[in-house]
Amino acid sequence: MSEGLSSFLVVVWVISQKSACGTDPFKLNVCPTECTCNGNKAIQIQCKLNISQFDITSKIGSFIASLPDEELVNSSIDIRCQDNMVVTWNNISSFQNVRSLRIENCAIDTQGSVLVFLSTFKINDILFKNINNGFINQINLRNLRTLTSLSIEYCNLTTVPEPVIPKDTSKLSQLSFSNNKIHTLACSLFKGYRCIVEKCVLDFSFNRLESIPLCACETPTVFYALRILNNQLSNISGLSCLKQHHIVLDENSLEELPAFEYGGTITVDADLNRIKTIRRETFKNLRMCGAVDLSYNLIEWIERHAFQGMTQLRNLILSNNKLKEFEVIHAPVGSMFNLRISLEKNQLEYPPYRKSNYEPPQLFETIAGRNPFICDCTVKTLIDRLKEEADIPTPATGPLTTTYSKLSQIFIDAWSYKCDSPKALIYRQLTKLNMSSECPIVKNCPFDCVCTKYLSTAITLVDCSSRALTQLPQHMPYNSIAIDLSNNSLASLDVRNYLIRTTGLNVSHNQISALDPGIVPLLVNVNYLDLRNNQLSNLPSSFEDTLFDNLTSIFLSGNVWKCSCENVWMSQWLNENNYSVYDGSLLQCLNDANETFTFHELNPDILQCSSKTTSLAILAITLGIVAIIVLAISLVVYKFRYETRVLFYTRFKVRFISEDVANKQFDAFISYSEQDREFVKTVVNKLENELPLKYKICIHDRDFTVGTPIAENISSAINKSSVVIFVVSNHFSESDWCSFEFQTSYQTMLVHKSPKLVIIKVDDLDEDKLDNDLRAYFRTKSFIDKNEGIFWDKLIYSLPPH
Ligand SMILES: *[C@@H]1O[C@H](CO)[C@@H](O)[C@H](O)[C@H]1NC(C)=O
Ligand SMILES: *[C@@H]1O[C@H](CO)[C@@H](O)[C@H](O)[C@H]1NC(C)=O
Ligand SMILES: *[C@@H]1O[C@H](CO)[C@@H](O)[C@H](O)[C@H]1NC(C)=O
Ligand SMILES: *[C@@H]1O[C@H](CO)[C@@H](O)[C@H](O)[C@H]1NC(C)=O
Ligand SMILES: *[C@@H]1O[C@H](CO)[C@@H](O)[C@H](O)[C@H]1NC(C)=O
Ligand SMILES: *[C@@H]1O[C@H](CO)[C@@H](O)[C@H](O)[C@H]1NC(C)=O
Ligand SMILES: *[C@@H]1O[C@H](CO)[C@@H](O)[C@H](O)[C@H]1NC(C)=O
Ligand SMILES: *[C@@H]1O[C@H](CO)[C@@H](O)[C@H](O)[C@H]1NC(C)=O
Ligand SMILES: *[C@@H]1O[C@H](CO)[C@@H](O)[C@H](O)[C@H]1NC(C)=O
Ligand SMILES: *[C@@H]1O[C@H](CO)[C@@H](O)[C@H](O)[C@H]1NC(C)=O
Ligand SMILES: *[C@@H]1O[C@H](CO)[C@@H](O)[C@H](O)[C@H]1NC(C)=O
Repeated sequence: MSEGLSSFLVVVWVISQKSACGTDPFKLNVCPTECTCNGNKAIQIQCKLNISQFDITSKIGSFIASLPDEELVNSSIDIRCQDNMVVTWNNISSFQNVRSLRIENCAIDTQGSVLVFLSTFKINDILFKNINNGFINQINLRNLRTLTSLSIEYCNLTTVPEPVIPKDTSKLSQLSFSNNKIHTLACSLFKGYRCIVEKCVLDFSFNRLESIPLCACETPTVFYALRILNNQLSNISGLSCLKQHHIVLDENSLEELPAFEYGGTITVDADLNRIKTIRRETFKNLRMCGAVDLSYNLIEWIERHAFQGMTQLRNLILSNNKLKEFEVIHAPVGSMFNLRISLEKNQLEYPPYRKSNYEPPQLFETIAGRNPFICDCTVKTLIDRLKEEADIPTPATGPLTTTYSKLSQIFIDAWSYKCDSPKALIYRQLTKLNMSSECPIVKNCPFDCVCTKYLSTAITLVDCSSRALTQLPQHMPYNSIAIDLSNNSLASLDVRNYLIRTTGLNVSHNQISALDPGIVPLLVNVNYLDLRNNQLSNLPSSFEDTLFDNLTSIFLSGNVWKCSCENVWMSQWLNENNYSVYDGSLLQCLNDANETFTFHELNPDILQCSSKTTSLAILAITLGIVAIIVLAISLVVYKFRYETRVLFYTRFKVRFISEDVANKQFDAFISYSEQDREFVKTVVNKLENELPLKYKICIHDRDFTVGTPIAENISSAINKSSVVIFVVSNHFSESDWCSFEFQTSYQTMLVHKSPKLVIIKVDDLDEDKLDNDLRAYFRTKSFIDKNEGIFWDKLIYSLPPH
């Protein structure tokens, strides 16, 4: 009875539940009020939390626990908090069957428990974004097998916690730790991560990585893309062995790229770095590379053939760098595609492939606008070729059998090339220039001058007129030139090497008062030389021997020629060169009395020039030179008079000043301190035994009489010696006996004019320690330095002559 009643009640309860909730009779919990729960078989739970103290375990956990497993296939849970409010989540066991989990902007409190996702979980996607990193350290994903995408972003992680990387990554195709503060990567990360699925991505963008550990290479990892953009990487040699298909290194601090080892299809993006040079090793192995983006770096130089062998390359982006040239040797010759090379915004001086006459051996669609092009004769070929092509209509149909492409297919943005120099052509469109009869020269054209090459004569006219120049320019364009320097402020004409290839020189209207005689032989190629209206009073006489042929025109009027003897030759010279010197018959000169003559009238008799003057001048000059030499020698001898005397004595036995030295028992008494004994031994040995003349020396430890008081011994030694030699070192002044010896000798010398005192300086002396008289000796410099070259000569010279 009671059984029947209870079964009845159960039936009634079940029915009432069913009627209350509609579909599922077993659903005990309802969707939390903060969330919306949609879908039938694939339920989507979305929670927008704006209250604190939300408990994920009790609210969402118990709700999904109440759902049957089928409803959780393709289920997703999406929790978004407001302002990082605190939510609690301490038990994940009910999330077993959830497939996608996404939590953003929350501060999750696990109340001390570690959330371990077991291998039985079926979760595919996890995204934790802007979650407290304390929480990330409390989760363990090691055993998850089903994960295909894991992103932990904006969580302020400084390292990647090991427990968040699943042991088995075979299904993982996206692993992202972007926008954290990661500064180091552990080796284990690369060891563990084996990406087997296609197109997997490892993303460390927007972190603080400065380097990639070299151990990354120990177990080479294959993944499709490696994104490390926007870090602080300066050295990625640790990446060279990684096998990735797309490596994104944008916005780091790279100065160099490593030699990549991977040979598979690959794209390298390294724009916005600080790379200066592209080395040959970098891309040597990247034969399958399809694209390289190195824009926005500081590339100045590409090693030859740096891209050679990259046959699969379709896109090479080098724009926004500092390249000055780009030649065929810099291009990926051999590429099998219509490779596009971007070079805009570099420092290119000329359009690419200049050295191959702008004709690369294959089709490189090249973009090179916005470069500071020099529009000189060099680009004439390109301009002419492009014009030629434009004139020939392209055949509407027909086989493409041309061996090389049309240049318009190569220089695809040629219309945008603008000139940056010469000044006159700035901002002009390069391809529209008319270089049919003349073209500018820029290289070596003197500053502010205009250089134009005339194609019919191949002579470059250098127009430097009216530029206020005071000197001849140092450099000129190559090959034949004609120089117009008229109306400047030149004061002289000096020798310049380019004069030899100068076919015309106009220096009229300057202030030239002197010509360097050396320029005359350099003027062999001039067709005209215009020296009018200067301050010339004479021509270098080297003109006298130069016969200009009658094709040369020389203009000399408007100068202040002097009617002087040195100019007499001009009269005849003008006569002989009357075809060359255009205005020769007009030339006039002034004499000292301001009288005007023509050069025809000039002759030696009028001027009373005599050849005596010249010979007298030569004699005077010769005498002058001799006098100067004698004077110089005397000065040297005087300056080194002491050394001269020493050397004359020791080498030639000649003494200029004979000194009267009384014949004494000893030639010299040497006073020294104990520390210099070794040196003194050498001296004594040399003077007594090694020289042809044998000297007699007295030293205290050998020659003093034993038993006599020292002071008496010293006075006696001093009296018996012609010379007293003091070996003065720092020890000398410290020795009382040495000072005594010096004082005694000094006093004796003052009274008897004997003995002679000689000082040998040993090593660097602290002069302040010396006694006053000794210091006075040093100040007068009358000492012999042990280290000087003629030490022995000086020493012997100081001893009495034998
Ligand atoms: C929380 O959201 C509810 C409804 O969305 C709103 O009425 C309430 O004002 C919000 N509270 C706060 C503190 O923002
Ligand atoms: C889950 O989603 C996938 C594709 O998103 C679909 O192919 C599959 O049928 C779905 N499963 C269920 C049970 O709805
Ligand atoms: C989590 O919840 C499950 C089922 O509700 C329970 O069996 C388990 O003991 C809980 N775990 C913890 C650590 O509280
Ligand atoms: C990360 O750190 C920044 C500044 O230190 C802080 O403003 C932000 O709230 C932190 N984010 C998280 C998720 O802890
Ligand atoms: C880059 O780092 C590796 C190892 O850390 C080192 O051997 C190499 O010299 C570094 N290269 C540069 C350019 O500093
Ligand atoms: C180019 O200049 C030459 C003379 O300098 C002139 O004869 C010719 O017509 C010009 N060509 C064009 C296309 O302007
Ligand atoms: C000479 O040069 C000056 C400036 O240096 C200029 O003002 C003057 O016009 C020039 N004269 C001639 C004839 O070119
Ligand atoms: C040299 O320059 C002046 C001034 O520019 C000019 O009058 C003269 O004809 C020129 N001389 C020659 C030979 O061209
Ligand atoms: C130069 O002048 C000489 C003599 O006057 C003459 O014989 C010769 O043909 C001339 N040469 C040229 C190239 O005019
Ligand atoms: C040059 O001189 C010769 C003879 O000395 C004379 O016959 C000739 O007319 C002169 N030519 C010129 C251009 O003055
Ligand atoms: C010559 O003439 C100049 C000016 O033309 C003058 O300065 C100078 O004093 C004159 N010399 C003599 C000797 O008359």
